[in-house]
Amino acid sequence: MTSLGRPTVPWSWYSDPAILSLEMERIFRRSWQYAGHLGELQGPGSYFASETGPVPIVITLDPDGELRAFVNVCRHRGAIVATDAHRRRTIQCPYHAWTYGLDGRLRAAPRADQDPAFDPSRMGLMPASVGTWGPFVFANPDADAEPLSEVLGDLPAVVAAHGLDIDSLSFYRRVPYKVNANWKIAVENYLECIHCPVNHPGLVEVIDERKIELQAVGLRASQFFPAHPRSLEGRGPIDAHGELRSAQFHLWYPTLKFNVFPGHANLSIGPLWPTSPVACAAYLDYWFADGADQRWIDDLIVLDTQIGAEDTALVEAAQRGTSSGMVERGWVLGGSETLIGCFQDYLGERLSLDT
Ligand code: FES
Repeated sequence: MTSLGRPTVPWSWYSDPAILSLEMERIFRRSWQYAGHLGELQGPGSYFASETGPVPIVITLDPDGELRAFVNVCRHRGAIVATDAHRRRTIQCPYHAWTYGLDGRLRAAPRADQDPAFDPSRMGLMPASVGTWGPFVFANPDADAEPLSEVLGDLPAVVAAHGLDIDSLSFYRRVPYKVNANWKIAVENYLECIHCPVNHPGLVEVIDERKIELQAVGLRASQFFPAHPRSLEGRGPIDAHGELRSAQFHLWYPTLKFNVFPGHANLSIGPLWPTSPVACAAYLDYWFADGADQRWIDDLIVLDTQIGAEDTALVEAAQRGTSSGMVERGWVLGGSETLIGCFQDYLGERLSLDT
């Protein structure tokens, strides 16, 4: 892992449309991303439109039980084909009613029989790659992507080693949010906790941020914290007594957040993605064990919502500063900001640009 400090990437990268175009081409159109969960399907013969941007994806489970993913863009004139989740054996585009099977093949195109040049066998939905990890569904717009299991690396083993059995969890709620900042500023804020004592008074009563452990392995950048004594004594915003004695926060490149607090079995997982050079959208799916105490869940969500609001204010202010055009670069501290350095290495490599 990087241990020496270094200049940041140029701050122009946080607002330059040309950089975002490059990121779309070299990162977002060819990366695995969390697309939702198996509970969004309703058995064989169903599908759901993934809310994960910026490439629209539809996940299907065909009548034979095969899980597939397609780019959710109509091959006619580009409309979004699927919306929401449905139990249905075909997907019909709302624009001119082209109808696709759950295997992506075009089944019907009104009035196409009047066009002798039209070849329906070449007009199916574009396939994407799909994979699962426990109840989580992942997709990659690149149909020839390396399998998910290989790209996940040791993340599943690390999560389990820290006490979380993802198969014991049930989906609780999805919380979408938007941030007026470049996606990289939001990610980099996630990758260090030296801002925590100053800005997250609730969080630092739950985790002992002075005892942070950092790891960067493969596509994961991880932070581990023991529970804070205050919360173990029942005096923090959540009671940290439970089967999980530590917190684990993983960023899985490029943007998947995987958050586990100490206490009872819990997880929030979700991606963020750029909606413009200076804005991004995101969501978190919250998961808890069946029968988890409702008050404990409520306390955790109140805390996490407060942390999210505090972070939004921080990164939006950083966006305004980096967009001023008056300072070319900042500084990534060695040690405490090592994971940001690793992320910026990843960026430079994927974009084939010197950082
Ligand atoms: Fe989908 Fe025309 S854009 S049917």
